Amino acid sequence: MSPSPAATDSTFLRAARGEEVDHTPVWYMRQAGRSLPEYLKVREGIAMLDSCMDPELIVEITMQPVRRYGVDAAIFFSDIVLPVKAVGVDLDIKPGIGPVVAEPVRTLADVHRIPDLTPEHVTYITQAVQGLTAELGATPLIGFAGAPFTVASYLVEGGPSKEHARTKAMMHAAPEVWDALMKKITQISTAFLKVQVDAGASAVQLFDSWAGALTPRDYAEKVMPYSSQVLAEAGTWGVPRTHFGVGTTNLLTLMGEAGADVVGVDWRTPLTRGIELVGDRAVQGNLDPTLVFAPTEVMLERAAAVIEEGRAAKGHIFNLGHGVIPSTNPDQLKKLTEFVQSYPLR
Ligand code: CP3
Repeated sequence: MSPSPAATDSTFLRAARGEEVDHTPVWYMRQAGRSLPEYLKVREGIAMLDSCMDPELIVEITMQPVRRYGVDAAIFFSDIVLPVKAVGVDLDIKPGIGPVVAEPVRTLADVHRIPDLTPEHVTYITQAVQGLTAELGATPLIGFAGAPFTVASYLVEGGPSKEHARTKAMMHAAPEVWDALMKKITQISTAFLKVQVDAGASAVQLFDSWAGALTPRDYAEKVMPYSSQVLAEAGTWGVPRTHFGVGTTNLLTLMGEAGADVVGVDWRTPLTRGIELVGDRAVQGNLDPTLVFAPTEVMLERAAAVIEEGRAAKGHIFNLGHGVIPSTNPDQLKKLTEFVQSYPLR
């Protein structure tokens, strides 16, 4: 199968390709899961990673924000560590903490123990995407994967990290281990994206959430070559590629050059500045995710400013500057979605 033909002319895909749109398309990173009461209900008694392996549950959770908010795109419900779990790495997602790896990767032998990902490892992903594209109709489904650096950080640190110190130490002290690990994750992330696109996903997003911890030099020399390989391969599938990280003002130009059609801009970077930095590419973002806790009129006034700034871009997809915060009131996101979709562009 190829990308869902029904979604080809959707506002999201048009904006990602830099074509004219009737309204600024909007979706939210981490819209599936986390804040919705209907999500918490279906997840009761089911561990996070188990829910990511159950096609019916994946379809239901992915659809929930589409039904509630009427957003312009769905994001596939899974996690960036799911593919490494699928090939056999012993890890878990602990509530309120995040991914925790039983035996962190430190040596070449550790890397060589990790198998490549094949579609047979993730048949539930294929089933879920097929079910979703049928149910979504003209609403595009965004497939995603973690970028090599961000996934490597979890594998090397053994869990969430602020400094990414062990990861950076491996990069510089054991370059051959670093290269082997980054190549391994490049294969896994690329194959995971391919499974989603082959089953009908219309776009892909590569999350390099923690790349902002890197200097531009280390990013360019030690990280970008691998992300570029993932994005180059995805470029042969005919779907737009979004590349996103947090705290990346100093990396935005490189993240675009890595091979993105759309560059995600976090909320700390003024969107106008982000547009200058990425040049002839579309942008995605970038309302501060905490603005949902402000009075509605303040949130909407800031949203209007983001839309106005976005007009200068080759294409603009409205989003938060990072994921939906778990305590977000869904009524605020509903109002925000309606506001963005009805904001006059002409
Ligand atoms: O919209 C969506 O939620 C789609 C699915 C999705 C999840 N994780 C589900 C999830 C996506 C796109 C991700 C990506 C992801 N996972 C990233 C990149 C995006 C980003 O936010 O920068 C990262 C860094 C991870 C790793 C991860 N998984 C973290 C840091 C956490 C949070 C831990 C916590 O509980 O606060 C997770 C867990 C996770 N992934 C949850 C969900 C819905 C929460 C777990 C739960 O509901 O039990």
